[in-house]
Amino acid sequence: MITLGIDTSCDDTSASCVKDGKVLSNIVFSQVFHSKYGGVMPELAARDHLKNITLTVEEAVKPVGFDNLDNISATYGPGLIGSLLVGLSFAKSLSYIRNLPFYAVNHIEGHIFSLFIENKISCPFVCLVVSGGHTELVYVKKRGDYKIMGRTLDDAAGESFDKVARMLKLSYPGGQAIEELAEKGNPIAIKFPCSKLKNYNFSFSGIKTAVLYYLKNNLNAEITDVAASFQKAVIDSLTNTTFECALKLKANTIGISGGVSRNNKLRKRFMEISKQHRIKFYCPEKEFCTDNAVMIALCAQHYFKKGIISPFNIKANSRVSLIKN
Ligand code: KG4
Ligand code: ZN
Repeated sequence: MITLGIDTSCDDTSASCVKDGKVLSNIVFSQVFHSKYGGVMPELAARDHLKNITLTVEEAVKPVGFDNLDNISATYGPGLIGSLLVGLSFAKSLSYIRNLPFYAVNHIEGHIFSLFIENKISCPFVCLVVSGGHTELVYVKKRGDYKIMGRTLDDAAGESFDKVARMLKLSYPGGQAIEELAEKGNPIAIKFPCSKLKNYNFSFSGIKTAVLYYLKNNLNAEITDVAASFQKAVIDSLTNTTFECALKLKANTIGISGGVSRNNKLRKRFMEISKQHRIKFYCPEKEFCTDNAVMIALCAQHYFKKGIISPFNIKANSRVSLIKN
């Protein structure tokens, strides 16, 4: 079965073909121009998707040929509404004219499926989806059956990296830039608070404000120490809560996915603590941590195999939850 996947949920135009779980193509067109605004401009993102979607899909389908596609999928939410509409409408139109089954994928479920791209993971497991738009702690009972154990009550972890990067006058997106700066700093130089919440929830807006005030009150602050201390506080919060939840659930496997899971220190810390508790730990290859359409096609294949398809009247939904009500 060959599936075309499309994701235009934020600022990456991505398309991919997957054959029975094997990646045939993975095209990601990143809209780098947002960096000059210090964040994603939703209206400009949507217009740029419109400009790039045809070429991106053509590139992804090149090794396969349109005639050999068995079905088509696209992200319908959560994400930026204008951006989502471009990929979703394109995918629906292509399915309609080619008379192929169509499936609309939840972007967060896509990030969970990114863990399956190169790993054979047995369910159940605890999955931390940690990106620029989401921080969700999910108990994956089996593929398609999830329980949300916790989530951020304010900023997503990646969003806090991006906001702190802006305060430090680093480029957007800020995660990678903070990680590089933190390499040269002392992670225990400054104690930044990261709220510990009940029910495995997270909060990252307090730490962002703490960094802002620290920089205001310490005009000669060593920014490498600020980056390293901030990064450590976020990593501590993510690892403490995830392992607390996994131990409570007696889970023997943990996975992390989403853009922030590219962070080497985060990956290393998860690996170390997992070893201590004899828990198996997985994360996707870095190219599949950030937004991509391979994870969308893979997720869709799971549903196509079960005979599940989406109606053409499904709407883009910027705030849809992982769990269908
Ligand atoms: O998954 P993704 O591409 O998009 C969303 O679904 O949100 O994640 C993008 C986020 C950005 O906030 C970016 O700063 C963060 O992932 N990120 C990182 C790193 N690389 C990307 N955060 C921390 N460390 C990194 N190395
Ligand atoms: Zn994402």
